[in-house]
Amino acid sequence: MRAWKIAAIPGDGIGKEVIAAGIEVLDALAERSGDFRLAVETLPWGSDHYRAHGVYMPEDGLARLKGFDAIFFGAVGDPHIPDHVSLWGLRLPICQGLDQYANVRPARLLPGIVSPLRAAAGALDWVIVRENSEGEYAGHGGRVHRGLPEEVATEVAVFTRAGVQRIMRFAFALARSRPKKHLTVVTKSNAQRHGMVLWDEIAAATAREFADVRWDKELVDAMTTRMVLKPASIDTVVASNLHADILSDLAAALAGSLGVAPTANLNPERRFPSMFEPIHGSAFDIMGKGIANPVATFWTASMMLEHLGEGAAAARLMRAVERATADPALHTPDLGGTATTAQVTRAVIDAIRSDNR
Ligand code: NAI
Ligand code: MG
Repeated sequence: MRAWKIAAIPGDGIGKEVIAAGIEVLDALAERSGDFRLAVETLPWGSDHYRAHGVYMPEDGLARLKGFDAIFFGAVGDPHIPDHVSLWGLRLPICQGLDQYANVRPARLLPGIVSPLRAAAGALDWVIVRENSEGEYAGHGGRVHRGLPEEVATEVAVFTRAGVQRIMRFAFALARSRPKKHLTVVTKSNAQRHGMVLWDEIAAATAREFADVRWDKELVDAMTTRMVLKPASIDTVVASNLHADILSDLAAALAGSLGVAPTANLNPERRFPSMFEPIHGSAFDIMGKGIANPVATFWTASMMLEHLGEGAAAARLMRAVERATADPALHTPDLGGTATTAQVTRAVIDAIRSDNR
């Protein structure tokens, strides 16, 4: 029997609630499938760990993660700790340390979910590829003359030829694997005339390697209106770290809720484990209430299984999720319903057990 080692990092807030639900669903799936096993080790890293030990994860944290086949991550963020401390304490060091440079964010209107956008019905099926290792979130910059009137802060976006080249190749290859074979390259090269011009040049050169992929280019501001007004004109999208961060929250809202949006932080060469997480954060406003939507976490669990080569189980999980979303009685409050995390989880597990395919 195949066995996969999974590191689960629930983190903070609703991360703890949705990862617990995700593990229950994964267990049911492995049991139903019968040909693979998941050895899940839960690592108690996050803001509680920080309060107790002064660090978000132990010093050998990255080294330990390298021993797993995949990482199943909840969210990090605490109402009493500045967000940049928590994000740079856990999530970003993992993404950067394990060179998970391709962040893949599908957005699709699941059965039963109504988009706030009229034009989205039947037209919203996108994958956004986010550059996940450099760009605006490279962490380059500093502050001098703190607190004085002449204080200066810089936040330097870093674009390297190697970094842009690899994300462009990844995005063109992903576009090629989808039926429409279409890629939109998001840019801002009219205003940002160094990094974004390099980005455009490498996109154009990469396009020549993928002659069967149709592609176009859109300025990031115009991209927001295109997503709202012409959703059917979009298929695969590639954008920088910051741009894709923003566009994918918009995509999630157009697909119904942040609570259904998954993401995969991939190291495509598989030198290191990849990390799978819902897009959302720790959601201070609903944590502890038992009403977090677990669908994003289930969908990212399906992406994790796909990555591990368990395609049949991944598809079974998505069938079960779609059976649940199709029933409005199983919608959590973010989708306008009254269901709880536990009720949705139970329904998905039941659908897995009764799936005959
Ligand atoms: P958030 O994603 O936590 O919440 C935004 C809104 O969406 C809230 O109203 C929340 O209730 C709702 N929401 C999110 N996920 C939901 C779900 N599964 N079910 C139902 N409703 C859901 O973003 P926010 O408020 O900007 O950040 C809160 C904290 O999370 C901050 O500390 C932030 O830094 C952190 N964060 C962490 C991320 C990560 O670990 N990958 C990603 C985004 C934010
Ligand atoms: Mg974001």
